[in-house]
Amino acid sequence: MIAIYPGSFDPITLGHLDIIQRGSRLFNKVIVAVLRNPNKVPLFTVEQRLEQIRIATQHLPNVEADSFDGLTVNYAQQRQAQVLLRGLRAISDFEVELQMAHTNKTLSTQIETVFLATSNEYSFLSSSVVKEIARFGGSVDHLVPPHIALDIYKCYNHNYPIANPTTTAITPLQSIPMEQSTGTIPNQEA
Ligand code: PNS
Repeated sequence: MIAIYPGSFDPITLGHLDIIQRGSRLFNKVIVAVLRNPNKVPLFTVEQRLEQIRIATQHLPNVEADSFDGLTVNYAQQRQAQVLLRGLRAISDFEVELQMAHTNKTLSTQIETVFLATSNEYSFLSSSVVKEIARFGGSVDHLVPPHIALDIYKCYNHNYPIANPTTTAITPLQSIPMEQSTGTIPNQEA
């Protein structure tokens, strides 16, 4: 059975990777599908996000990264997938995700949405949280894979990863002032 894991992944986080890893044990193939969304101004281009995902999932042979535009169910049909995989972090996700699952069911009765409960340690984590922390000079080393942390630091003009404040005491906002950084990036999504 083939599952599509659709999303923005701007960027992919350890929470997303938790869902992908567990999904890869449940399905023959998981396609991580990045939506080409003209309505959002992302931090990373679709191509950058695909590369980030490919590096982060290279140890999972049945995981593929791809992009799509338009309706997710149409893309799923094109790829002969039967399942849309989504993670649920909290009750606040549930409302939105249930609406999306019901909407998708009206568009295709053939495709089922399967939810995996996000592992506890990632229940707070989103791409937006990661960008917000980095934007204000904090460490995201504990939230994304190392190659993505470096990409994020480059975007916000950190030339090096800042120590994780949960393990090392640092002065808050010790990094480059916002006016020198790319803090004007008008992003954003969850
Ligand atoms: O990572 P995100 O931003 O929560 O992902 C949302 C996504 C991409 C899964 C959703 O917006 C989507 O499926 N968009 C494609 C358009 C579509 O199919 N809409 C109908 C379902 S609401």
